[in-house]
Amino acid sequence: MSELFRANIAAMRGYIPGEQPQDSGYIKLNTNENPYPPTPAVVERIRSACNSDLRLYPDPDANDLREKLAELFSVVPQQVIAGNGSDELLNIIIRSFASEGEKIVYPNPTYGYYKPLIDIQGAEAVPIEFPADYSLPDELVVPDARITFLANPNGPSGTLLPYSEVAALCARVDGILVVDEAYVDFSEGGCIRLIDEYRNAIVVRTMSKSFSLAGMRIGFAFAPVELIKGMWKVKDHYNINRLSLVAAEAALDDIDAMRANAIRVCRTRARLSDRLRELGFYIWDSQANFLLARIGENMAGQDAATLYANLKKRRILVRYFQNPPRLANCLRISIGTEAETDALLAALQDLLTA
Ligand SMILES: Cc1ncc(COP(=O)(O)O)c(C=O)c1O
Repeated sequence: MSELFRANIAAMRGYIPGEQPQDSGYIKLNTNENPYPPTPAVVERIRSACNSDLRLYPDPDANDLREKLAELFSVVPQQVIAGNGSDELLNIIIRSFASEGEKIVYPNPTYGYYKPLIDIQGAEAVPIEFPADYSLPDELVVPDARITFLANPNGPSGTLLPYSEVAALCARVDGILVVDEAYVDFSEGGCIRLIDEYRNAIVVRTMSKSFSLAGMRIGFAFAPVELIKGMWKVKDHYNINRLSLVAAEAALDDIDAMRANAIRVCRTRARLSDRLRELGFYIWDSQANFLLARIGENMAGQDAATLYANLKKRRILVRYFQNPPRLANCLRISIGTEAETDALLAALQDLLTA
C-alpha cells in the first residue's frame, strides 16, 4: 500500500504523543498539562454555551477573541491569528512559508512535533544541536532557511533565553523566526514585542498549559499584519469550535486566576527541583511547568528507563524519551499538585534506596 502515499509520508514514522491513559488513577506528570482545573467561571461559561447555537458554525475570524488578545497584549487584532491549539498554528506556519525541499531549522532537542510537521510538508529539517547548557547555538543561523523555530522556554529543558538574544537571532536569520512560547507564563520572559520591531517574527502561544485548557485546543500567534494576512489563507475557515472560543474568552476575562495558578506551579517547581537535586539528579534551571532531570554522577546503578518503568508500575507517569540519545539518561517531569509532588518524591526516594 505504501506506494499509494506521497514518498515523504510513506517514509515517516508518525509522531508519538506522550501517553494519555484512558483509565483514571494515574498521577500524570508526562505531558505538561496543568495539574489544576480551569476556573469555575470558565467551566460555567462553557456549560452555558451548550445550547441550540451549536447548530451554527463558529465565527471564522474569532473576532471577539482576537480583540481581547490584542487589548491584553497591546497589539492590534490584525496582528493576531487563533488556532486549534498552537500545533495548528505551527502547521499553518510551515505550510505558509516553506515549500518542499526548503530548509526549516530548529535547535535540538526541542519540541518533538516540529520534525513530523516538516516531514509532512516535504521540507528539509535542519536540527542544530544545543550545547549541554541549552544556550543558543551559533550555527542556528543557516543560510537560506525559510523558517527557524525556537521554543522559549524550551521543551524538554525548560531553559529560557533572554529577549536580547532572541531579538539578535531574529535580526540574523534568513526567513521567519518562530518563537514558540507555550510555557512562557511560567517564566519571566516574553517576546511579543518582537513583532513590532522585526518583519519576520512570529510569536506563538497556547492556552493548553498555563490556562489549564489543553482539552479545548486553543492557541494564538502574534505577527506583523502582512504575515498574518498570508497565514489566514492557509487556515481552515472554521478552525476553532464554538465552545473553545467561549472557553478562550472566558479564560482571558479571568486572567488573574491564571497568573495566580502559574505562581503556585512555579513554587512547586522550586520545591521539586531542590528535592530532586538532593536525591542526586542534575536539574536544568527550568522556567516552564516541568523539569528535565538527568541521572546524576553519584547515582550509580540507576538508569532513567528503569526509573520510568518502576514509577509507571506505581501509577506515576513521567516522560522518558528514547530519542534523541542525549536524553536517554533523563526524565522530564511535569509539575503536579503539592500532593502529587509528595507522592512522586516518596516513590523516588523508595526506588532509589531499594
Ligand atoms: C513547545 C510546545 N509548543 C507547542 C505545543 C503544542 O501545544 P498545543 O496544545 O497548543 O497544541 C507544545 C505541547 O506540548 C509544546 O511543548
